[in-house]
Amino acid sequence: MIRVTALSGTTAPAGTVAVGVPVHSGADGPAPAFGAGRLAGADLPAALDPAWCERQGFAAKVGQTVVLRTLGGARPDLVLVGIGDRGHYRAQRGLESVRRAAAAFVRAVGRGEAAVLQLAPVADVPAPETAAAAAEGGVLAGYRFDAYRSTDPPAGLGELVLATPGDGSALSEGAGRGARVAESVVWARDLVNEPAASLTPERFSERVTERFAGVDGVTVEVWDEERIAAERLGGLLGVAAGSVRPPRLVRIDYRPADPWTFDGRVPHLALVGKGITFDSGGLSLKSAGGMEAMKTDMGGAAAVVGALDAAGALGCRMALTAWTPLTENLPSGTATKPGDVLTTRSGKTIEVLNTDAEGRLVLADGLTLAAEEGPDAIVDLATLTGAVVVALGREIAGLLANDDELRDAVQDAGARAGEPSWPLPLPEEYASHIESEVADMRNMGRAGQAGTIAAALLLQEFVAGRPWVHLDIAGTARADDSRHYTTKGGTGFGVRTLVALVTSEAVARLLAARAPA
Ligand code: BES
Ligand code: MN
Ligand code: ZN
Repeated sequence: MIRVTALSGTTAPAGTVAVGVPVHSGADGPAPAFGAGRLAGADLPAALDPAWCERQGFAAKVGQTVVLRTLGGARPDLVLVGIGDRGHYRAQRGLESVRRAAAAFVRAVGRGEAAVLQLAPVADVPAPETAAAAAEGGVLAGYRFDAYRSTDPPAGLGELVLATPGDGSALSEGAGRGARVAESVVWARDLVNEPAASLTPERFSERVTERFAGVDGVTVEVWDEERIAAERLGGLLGVAAGSVRPPRLVRIDYRPADPWTFDGRVPHLALVGKGITFDSGGLSLKSAGGMEAMKTDMGGAAAVVGALDAAGALGCRMALTAWTPLTENLPSGTATKPGDVLTTRSGKTIEVLNTDAEGRLVLADGLTLAAEEGPDAIVDLATLTGAVVVALGREIAGLLANDDELRDAVQDAGARAGEPSWPLPLPEEYASHIESEVADMRNMGRAGQAGTIAAALLLQEFVAGRPWVHLDIAGTARADDSRHYTTKGGTGFGVRTLVALVTSEAVARLLAARAPA
């Protein structure tokens, strides 16, 4: 992982190979955000020749870069880094520009011991937040999953140094925080990218246990197949029935050392993540192409454990409980068959008409467990439906909830974090879509109709009336190509949304107002 530090003064660490200069776009051509100066031994331009910029194809759009090579090696290269229009360089949009600009800078530099990036303050954003965004973007752009390459690829950038004309110490805290959040996203990405042959339910639970061993305020509990049966998790068992690898259920508790309290109560949020370590579809088998990327189907579980990882490290001040039901979904002689009826932990029965709609079956039990403890609210993340990819594409998650204010809070947290989501309705009228001929409900809606909504309507049956928000991350959990600060493969989508959510005092207040009677 790239280290991130903040620079006071103008003297960069030895081994600095490049200096990044932020440049705004504009009607009069690209313009550096700062005036002339010297930084890390490089002369910074006061202005740029518009004709030259045009010949370079450099309009200073967000994430565009031009590298001015210095031959001889005595001085660092200069990298012009586009940060877009001045008017757009403010608030949330400005922060996302910073993430993307830092990512573009890291990609443009490539290899080297250290590189210095000048940080232009974002209007209406405190300096530490800007630094945190730059650290996130820079670290995440440098992410690679090389565990299975037989030769080590050359090392990338060692250290990203954030510089400001003013006092660097203001950036230091933010840089550290952003890098720490990125570290949790990296862990989540690693879990998603790990092949299903090695990331089995059991191995996933071990990775979590190892990660949190000795961490203050965090306890991990793992249920094996016997315990899962004793606890009557019929949904999870039904999906696991086709696999020789046993299911697991991981529970993580985080209790803050210094909690927020409202009327003497600590706000408590439950998180639930879908953990299908491989989804073949089961007997309702997917096509070869359809299951190519289905090691990703534990992306919800990865996001949830990644968020707990960051929350503990950042000193989150609300109580958290995370639940991840983990299993493979495979066909075999013992697999659940279309037409079978499962009895979930809640006692409610589900007719399985399509074994490929397995996520909602394991989440039914996960949500029931979460709700039993009476948390103030529940948020689940799941790579649940192909339909959400049709509706919202690969960059925006589906958002469904039984509580509008809480839904808005999750959407806002995602917007601040650079993880967009968009609401879909949960109309009572569509309850008929999941009516079963024989059981309390069936596990699929009507062919070609509102698949994401039908899935969420089923989940809603298992939250026991607690305030609840569901993020369908089927489209966003993996990326088809490396862009901005994502790398092709697992994205870790959801970690940053959850971190923004659980570190917000306004959200804590909202939760307190939802406390069960
Ligand atoms: N894991 C899939 C959803 C998915 C699709 C995730 C594409 C990522 C990319 C889920 O278990 C599934 O197969 N859903 C079915 C449900 C249907 C059978 C009702 C789907 O969306 O096709
Ligand atoms: Mn499936
Ligand atoms: Zn699935």
